[in-house]
Amino acid sequence: MQFDTPATTNPIDQLKVVGKPIPRIDGQLKTTGRAMYAYEWHDPKLSYAYGYPVGASIAKGRINSMDVSAAKKAPGVIAVVTAPEIGDRKKGKFNTVKLFGGDEVQHYHQAIALVVAETFEQARSAAALIKVSYTEEKGVFDLKEAMKTAVKPDEKQEPDTKAGDFQAAFASAPVTMEETYTTPDQSHAMMEPHASIAAWNGDAVSVWTSSQMIDWWRGDLATFLDVDKEKIHLMSPFIGGGFGGKLFLRVDAVLAVLGAQAAKRPVKVTLPRPLIMNNTTHRPATIQRIRIGAEENGKITAIAHESWSGDQPEGQPETAVNQTRLLYAGANRMTAMRLATLHLPEGNAMRAPGEAPGLMALEIAIDEMAEKLGLDPVEFRIINDTQVDPEKPERPFSHRDLIGCLKLGAEKFGWTGRGKPGARREGNWLIGTGVGAAFRNNMLLPSGARVRLGNDGVVTVETDMTDIGTGSYTIIAQTAAEMMGLGVDKVAVHLGDSRFPVSAGSGGQFGANCSTAGVYAACVKLREAVAQKLGFNSADVAFEDGQVRSGNRSVPLSEAAGSEGLVGEDTIEWGDLDKTHQQSTFGAHFVEVGVDVATGETRIRRMLAVCAAGRILNPITARSQVIGAMTMGAGGALTEELAVDTRRGFFVNHDLAGYEVPVHADIPHQEVIFMDETDPMSSPMKAKGIGELGLCGVSAAIANAIYNATGVRVREYPITLDKLIGGLPDVA
Ligand code: MOS
Repeated sequence: MQFDTPATTNPIDQLKVVGKPIPRIDGQLKTTGRAMYAYEWHDPKLSYAYGYPVGASIAKGRINSMDVSAAKKAPGVIAVVTAPEIGDRKKGKFNTVKLFGGDEVQHYHQAIALVVAETFEQARSAAALIKVSYTEEKGVFDLKEAMKTAVKPDEKQEPDTKAGDFQAAFASAPVTMEETYTTPDQSHAMMEPHASIAAWNGDAVSVWTSSQMIDWWRGDLATFLDVDKEKIHLMSPFIGGGFGGKLFLRVDAVLAVLGAQAAKRPVKVTLPRPLIMNNTTHRPATIQRIRIGAEENGKITAIAHESWSGDQPEGQPETAVNQTRLLYAGANRMTAMRLATLHLPEGNAMRAPGEAPGLMALEIAIDEMAEKLGLDPVEFRIINDTQVDPEKPERPFSHRDLIGCLKLGAEKFGWTGRGKPGARREGNWLIGTGVGAAFRNNMLLPSGARVRLGNDGVVTVETDMTDIGTGSYTIIAQTAAEMMGLGVDKVAVHLGDSRFPVSAGSGGQFGANCSTAGVYAACVKLREAVAQKLGFNSADVAFEDGQVRSGNRSVPLSEAAGSEGLVGEDTIEWGDLDKTHQQSTFGAHFVEVGVDVATGETRIRRMLAVCAAGRILNPITARSQVIGAMTMGAGGALTEELAVDTRRGFFVNHDLAGYEVPVHADIPHQEVIFMDETDPMSSPMKAKGIGELGLCGVSAAIANAIYNATGVRVREYPITLDKLIGGLPDVA
């Protein structure tokens, strides 16, 4: 199905099933431990062996030699696979650094060997016996130093942008602000570690893994192995979180496949937690400079956002200026990114790449500017709303209700304007409130599905879409149920298998809208097949309560299926509606914090998010996405930071003891409100993404609340107590 004109009324608009708060259809499997995650797959007919990976202990250089003789003789060891003996392999389309093979070391904890043994413990113990001799080379690990040598990234992919004359407008603006903000390297820290099982059968291999994007992984694994894609069967039906860390093929899958080849046995490989943070990807640190100029009345006349980040050679910048191109009006503007070469582990996508760290900076800057202007920060944002792309005013937004989010949020939160910083105190607690705007683009990727109507009246959906904890199973069941006139109990959903039609996958908050639109397209085909089979005119047919009706004829779906059943398969493809119109999602975050006047410890007291993201397909799963994202934003504001050893080039705190993510006690009260809206430009579902929007702007709202509580403006995340304590009143 080609989607190139705005959606009109369609069966989804009935909202008998879609839009309803239906609990996760996979919830019972998960809460009873029966949902099989990658490492748990078990076929009693197979005799599994266990692989334990070894990571490089230098950040840059070459392996001279590896002595694996002791490891090979250790109890239970079946095989040892080393990078030098595997040799240089072709890199996949989506990886910046090589995952495995050859003697070059590109980053710390890059995988250099796998030991396969009868048990996990034997493999781990033998891995410790491997001796490696390296030639270490000097690397660059410090972004502050490296930013001096940063260059313009690929002009085609990430061009500098401008409109009007920023320099002149900024110079003549009556009120201006200019500040620099920093965000640290962050780790996805998903619950389920990267894990894979591989089993060869002749020249074909089956891989159970934990992947957000089945088809990307399959393609890159085929490239690595230099085999036909058809020889690889990839399965990833349940995923314990990804946040972008499982978007691209990872080494656990590669090692499981190589290990199984060497051991001539099925092999299980998981990355040990302490290896993950340096072996895999992370959200790169940024240094961001923001300048804003405005009239006395609060109208922005000039706005500039520049961002510096680093990555491995051939890497990409963190696109932290994205939102500043689109979020606020202002005739004179510029954005630019500069990319430094760093030899830290590969930087890459983490939940809302670009906007998440970009808004951490921009939404503090907006708060600072509002204060300079003597305006309420909610009012200042409303004054500078735009209904068109400010860089290309001929391009309107498809639908934009940032103002609605700010106004409703202010009302529900009880935002009465903020008092002076440091003015509100309850016992030992300094209390403050803060606001931040949320913004994230809505991306459209092709997505396919197959739907089968059986003679039992059950519709089975098959697509290689993944559910990374987001609720894909449920919203896909709701979509098929709505289209076919059934309840979700009459829909079976099978996901995450490379034998199914290629979907959009889970990433960039495009999964929900795109994958359900693909299921919609397949159901349109199935409805046609049913109508045709019954000799109904497909324009005049209704699917209701398990029946197909046309005129005064009514046939149960189970009967229409016939003994063979009927199948519909299609892929949704996108026209120009995301080029002629800017498709984005919007929100407003309101936060109240307390800061302990003696210790500088910050406690979040309450959080509210109001989101405008098109049709909400399921308010339960959507809310879970947003509160999870708000929690992640609390981590970003207060605790999360990969500490860089700038001499040896690695992240020091590479486990969940050292890298602190929020726990329940950190998050006392969260509320989420969805604006009641649809976006007919986005898809036949009229929905947009929500999974990343919830993270965008929330850390800045917390930072702004801390400033309001204490009068201390911290511009370097995370806002730990050492950055506050010097500015707090003397209580001794
Ligand atoms: Mo997302 S960072 O595209 O999983």
